[in-house]
Amino acid sequence: MTRYLSDLPEQAPDFIIQLMAQFRDDPRPDKIDLGVGVYRNAAGETPIMQAVKQAETRLLQAETTKSYVALEGDPAFHQAMAKLILGADAPLHRIAAAGTVGGSGAVNIALQLIRRAHPDARIWVPSPTWANHTAMIGYQRITMLEYAYFNPETRAVDFAALTHSLSDLRPGDVVLLHGCCHNPTGADLTPEDWRELAHLLADRGALPLVDLAYQGFGDGVEADAAPTRLIAETCPEVLIAASCSKNFGLYRERAGVLLALGDAADQTRAQGNLTNLNRMTYSFPPDHGARLVTMILNDPDLRRLWMDELEQMRSGMVTLRGLLTQELRRLTGSDRFGFIAQHRGMFSRLGASPEQVATMRDEFGLYMIGDSRINIAGLTKDAVPAVARTIVAAGL
Ligand code: LMR
Repeated sequence: MTRYLSDLPEQAPDFIIQLMAQFRDDPRPDKIDLGVGVYRNAAGETPIMQAVKQAETRLLQAETTKSYVALEGDPAFHQAMAKLILGADAPLHRIAAAGTVGGSGAVNIALQLIRRAHPDARIWVPSPTWANHTAMIGYQRITMLEYAYFNPETRAVDFAALTHSLSDLRPGDVVLLHGCCHNPTGADLTPEDWRELAHLLADRGALPLVDLAYQGFGDGVEADAAPTRLIAETCPEVLIAASCSKNFGLYRERAGVLLALGDAADQTRAQGNLTNLNRMTYSFPPDHGARLVTMILNDPDLRRLWMDELEQMRSGMVTLRGLLTQELRRLTGSDRFGFIAQHRGMFSRLGASPEQVATMRDEFGLYMIGDSRINIAGLTKDAVPAVARTIVAAGL
């Protein structure tokens, strides 16, 4: 008899998500979680943003039906997100869009779109990139190549190496870019680098796929969108996968959008494909989180409140970066951890070995991802001295 369940291959657990469980089960009271990329405030909580609560209260009163919306999701959400990302004058007539199951859903639909147009497409990803990028690209059986990105010595982007590795770019290749706040390193390109890269991609006929999961967590909502806007102005076609998990704190609601920007003449065809891919994948995208985002972005008061809250989160992370850097400078008498203050967003890659990461976890209760990625938003001011001591004690 042919069996299905017993014939399945064993699956290794996702290491980021597994670490969450490991931390939860650790009985030590002074354990510190710098693992999964979830924002936490000074009290160590992941609160619902006030703007979201207020929108939810209004929605509860106003909503009259839970009937289906549309296979591609709500056009009002797509437009609000297109303007947030590409600016108030976003070329809506050139944009096809689909609401997705969070940012991962947007990347997933983007990969399907790429494969549908060109089954033999090749995708370049930065080395390193978010583990789920490589996993999803592999799962869709798309050829993947890596371009140089992070210099482990300087803990900054090695832009010369990046452009050098992209010298093998072929017309039609897809290049995955982190729009801001690179995950897992925290090292971003400079504005000059972005300009050069945008022109390189346009000249070589590559398709940029921008993953924008942290808009507002780096240098601010507008500044963080600038590289994506530049790419969109420079390249004829661009795919943008955006997440509302972090900047709206809507993690479990799974609000995301895929924008496909191209020639106006191709908009209807692209839209038809996005709508169809949603249908093939999950029929209708979730609505609740997307609706809240639309309400917040389109209501001046809610938008102001959201911007203020987001700015507080962002500046809090910048402050924590500064405090940790200072404390490490005090303990080591050197500036070798100065990169933590330079990095942006939730993450920094410390450059510790797997053994050092294990020591920090097992001996000191300090949790980080195995590649030594720390979540800055998992820190609190009170925890800074202990975290710095642990980093030094582990021999970094
Ligand atoms: C992370 O990188 O920690 C987050 O994006 C959460 C996840 O799903 O991996």
